[in-house]
Amino acid sequence: MAKSKPKFTRIAQLKSAENFMSYLSSIQADLPFKEQLSETFESSMGESYKLKSGAIIGNRFCILPMEGWDGTSDGLPTELTRRRWHNFAISGAKLIWGCEAVAVRSDGKANPHQLLINKQNLDAFKSLYHDMVSDHEMKFGSSSDLLIGLQLTDAGRFAIPDKDKIRKPKTLYKHSILDKKFNISEDHQVLTDSEIDQLIDDYIRAAELAKEAGFQFVDIKHCHGYLGHEFLSAFKREGKYGGSLKNRMRFLKSIVDGIRATSNIAVAVRLSAFDWIPFKKNDENTGVPEQPNQEYKEAFGGCNSTGIDLTEVFEMLEYFEELGIELVCITAGSPYYVPHIQRPALFPPSDGYLPPEDPLIGVARQIQITHEIKKKFPNLAIVGSAYSYLQEWLPNVAEEVVDKGMADFIGLGRMVLSYPEMPDDILKGKELTRGKICRTFSDCTTAPRIGLISGCFPLDSYYKKKSDAATLKAYKKKHRI
Ligand SMILES: Cc1cc2nc3c(=O)[nH]c(=O)nc-3n(C[C@H](O)[C@H](O)[C@H](O)COP(=O)(O)O)c2cc1C
Ligand code: SF4
Repeated sequence: MAKSKPKFTRIAQLKSAENFMSYLSSIQADLPFKEQLSETFESSMGESYKLKSGAIIGNRFCILPMEGWDGTSDGLPTELTRRRWHNFAISGAKLIWGCEAVAVRSDGKANPHQLLINKQNLDAFKSLYHDMVSDHEMKFGSSSDLLIGLQLTDAGRFAIPDKDKIRKPKTLYKHSILDKKFNISEDHQVLTDSEIDQLIDDYIRAAELAKEAGFQFVDIKHCHGYLGHEFLSAFKREGKYGGSLKNRMRFLKSIVDGIRATSNIAVAVRLSAFDWIPFKKNDENTGVPEQPNQEYKEAFGGCNSTGIDLTEVFEMLEYFEELGIELVCITAGSPYYVPHIQRPALFPPSDGYLPPEDPLIGVARQIQITHEIKKKFPNLAIVGSAYSYLQEWLPNVAEEVVDKGMADFIGLGRMVLSYPEMPDDILKGKELTRGKICRTFSDCTTAPRIGLISGCFPLDSYYKKKSDAATLKAYKKKHRI
C-alpha cells in the first residue's frame, strides 16, 4: 500500500470542546456530546447496573474482547496473555467481556496462537479468571460488582488453526464475493448439518468448562464474519440451519438449550448488528465497495451494498428475550472485509484501505444503531463498541450516551491496549494522559496480519522493546504503510 497522508482532521488537532463540536457538525456526524463532564463520582458512568439475575455490575465501562495472537500452540495463555488480562482487570471497568475470543475446538482457531478451552487447558483458564479477580480486588478492594465472561468462538471461514498458517476455512454457504476474495476453491465443501450438530456440542462443553473455571457468563460470538455470524446470513443454505431466520438462529438456540440443560451459565451474545458488502482499495488506496451497484444479499442487518436494515436484528433480539439472553454487545461488520465500519481508524492495517469516510462517521453509525436497538429493547443490557477513535473526547461522548440511555455500557477496545487505566482515570476525574491515548495506528491489527503478536507497539513501552516491534517497523517501511 503506498503511503498516503490521512485525508481527515486528526482528533488531537481539535483542542477544545467547541472545536470538536463544530467539526462534528461540519462533517455531519450525529454524535451525542456532553460539553461539561459531571463532577467526580456524580457521573452516570459510575452508576451500577443490576441484571435480572440480581448480579450487580459496578459501573458503565466494559472491556471488549481482543485477541493477542500470543497463546501457545496448544491454546494455553503465555506471559503476554496474562499481562493483557491483568491490564483489563485493573482498568477500572466492571464488565469484562471476553477477554478475547477463545476457540471451542482446535480446527476453529482464528490463528495458531489463539486460546483454546478444553479439559487439558482448564487449570490455565481457572488461573486466568482467579488472577483477574484478585488483581481487581488488590486495586479496588472488592470484586463483588465485577462481572467477567468468556467469549467462545469458531473462526469459520477465517480459521488459520495450525502452525503452517494456512487458512482452513469452514463455511456455511457459497459466498458470492468472500469465497473468491479469500481464495476458497470452487470444490470446497460447506459444513454439513451433522458437522454443525457436533460443533454445537463443543460449544456446550466449552461453556461447562468456562463455568468450572469461574467465569460468570459466556458470549456465543455472532460477529465479525466468524462462524456464528455467518449463520445469520446463510439465507441460501438449505436444511435446518439456513433460509428462515428461525433456521439461521438454530445454531444459537441449540447451544443455549444445551447450556440450560448442563452448566446453566448465563449466555451473552456479541452481535454484528449490521454488515456491508466487502470493500477493496481503489487506485488511491481508498476503500470502495467490491461491486458497487450489485444487489447484495449476504449481509445480516444490511440491505444492498451499504444500506442498513434492522428488521431481522429486531426479530432476533425479541427472541433473545425468550431465550433468556440479557447481555448483548453491539458491533458491526468484519475486520476482514469492512474494517472501517467495525473499528474506525485513521491509519489502516496492512490488509485494509484508507478510510472512505471520516472515522467519526463510523463511530457515530455504531452509536446510533446501538441507540435504535436500546430504544426498542429497554430490558436488554446493551454494550456499545467503537469508541476508541474519539480519543480525548471519549469521556464526553460516553457520559452523554449513558445519560441519555442510548446504551447501558461503553465498550472499550483498542484504547485499553494503549491506555488500560483510562476508565479508572475518567471515573476518578483525573486528567487523561495524552501520551497513552490510542491514535488508531492499527499496529495491533497489522502485526497479527503478518504473523506477529498483537499489542500496542507505538505507545506501550513493553511492546516497543520487543523484537516483533522491529520486524513490524521494517515491514511497514518496505510496504510503505
Ligand atoms: C487487536 C484486536 C483484536 C480483537 N479481537 C477481538 C476478539 O477476539 N473478539 C471480538 O469480538 N472483537 C475483537 N476485536 C474488536 C474489538 O473488540 C472492538 O470491537 C473494536 O476494536 C472496536 O472498538 P474500539 O474502537 O474501542 O477499538 C479486536 C480488535 C482488535 C484491535
Ligand atoms: S497499536 Fe496502539 S495506538 Fe495503534 S490502534 Fe492499536 S492500540 Fe491504538
